[in-house]
Amino acid sequence: MKRIIVFLLSLVMLTSLLVGCSSNKSDTADNGSKDNTADNTGDTAADAKVVKVGVTIYKFDDNFMTLYRQELEKYFKEELSNDEVTYEVTVVDGKNDQAEQTNQIQTFIADKYDVIVANLVQSSAASTVINMCKDADIPVVFINREPTTEDLDLWDKVAYVGADARQSGTMQGEIVYDLPNNGDVNGDGKVSYVMVMGDPENVDAQYRTEFSVKALTDKGVAVEELVKQRGDWDQAKGQEITAAALTQFGNGIDVVFCNNDAMALGAHQAIQAAGRTVGTDIYLVGVDALDEVVSYVESGEITGTVLNDHVGQAKTAADVAVKAVNGETLEKNYTVDYVKITK
Ligand code: GAL
Repeated sequence: MKRIIVFLLSLVMLTSLLVGCSSNKSDTADNGSKDNTADNTGDTAADAKVVKVGVTIYKFDDNFMTLYRQELEKYFKEELSNDEVTYEVTVVDGKNDQAEQTNQIQTFIADKYDVIVANLVQSSAASTVINMCKDADIPVVFINREPTTEDLDLWDKVAYVGADARQSGTMQGEIVYDLPNNGDVNGDGKVSYVMVMGDPENVDAQYRTEFSVKALTDKGVAVEELVKQRGDWDQAKGQEITAAALTQFGNGIDVVFCNNDAMALGAHQAIQAAGRTVGTDIYLVGVDALDEVVSYVESGEITGTVLNDHVGQAKTAADVAVKAVNGETLEKNYTVDYVKITK
């Protein structure tokens, strides 16, 4: 009897050993041939379905878009990827060259990416990009540079994630309106301003330029435009434009409006170099709320800025890209609010 029990026990052990071996073998085989198709819903990270996300940024050398793309990558990797799905994000530099960027998008298409996130060099390229993506049935999410409504209507697997630049312009104007004498620091009865514009092809630049001034005139404040010049979102250009304006108009300038913070940092350098003092004899406002500018706002060296919420926009863009990959119905526009920042 004892012998029979020992024999049976050995049999059980042997069987479980064999089963163990064979199941390990099949795990290895599964991992070895990584299956990237939508049906693969394994329960470990190694078995996860892989979604390829192609991101192209108009140029890497842009302070705000650098924060944006870093956040976008981080959110896809750290928050959205899990045991079931891994988002493989490739981010490329459009180098401010639309032809180059169009090629990059073509490469994403040829490499069968699942979704494309595009910060266009030129918004006018949107229709070409949409048609390319439509032919390949790869959804596209535009960020930061808004295409026209007609372009967005070309296909249902296309959406825009951004912020309403009119709101940021209006907030800049309100910051000035709330200052003593509504920003007329030299007391000559009108707010004389310098407008440092971004890239004028871009609605952010157009609307911020228009609505910052409109917020003042709507409230009955008299204004005078001394200079309006394009600075292409660039700090060095913001510095040059402001320096030249200060040389030409001196104390005639009450306010320097900059369409973004990078240019406001340049304007800040020029104002200091000219021996002027923000808050005492001149005012300066930007948009984006870059860390450096926020600390200048705290110390009073820059009058105010408007938070362009790159975190909120990056997360929304990624969430919309995921919806698109999952075949959910997309809205045309997803908008994130701006926030006024003053001392
Ligand atoms: C704006 C931002 C600018 C610049 C620009 C690029 O929204 O305020 O700093 O990044 O986008 O299109």
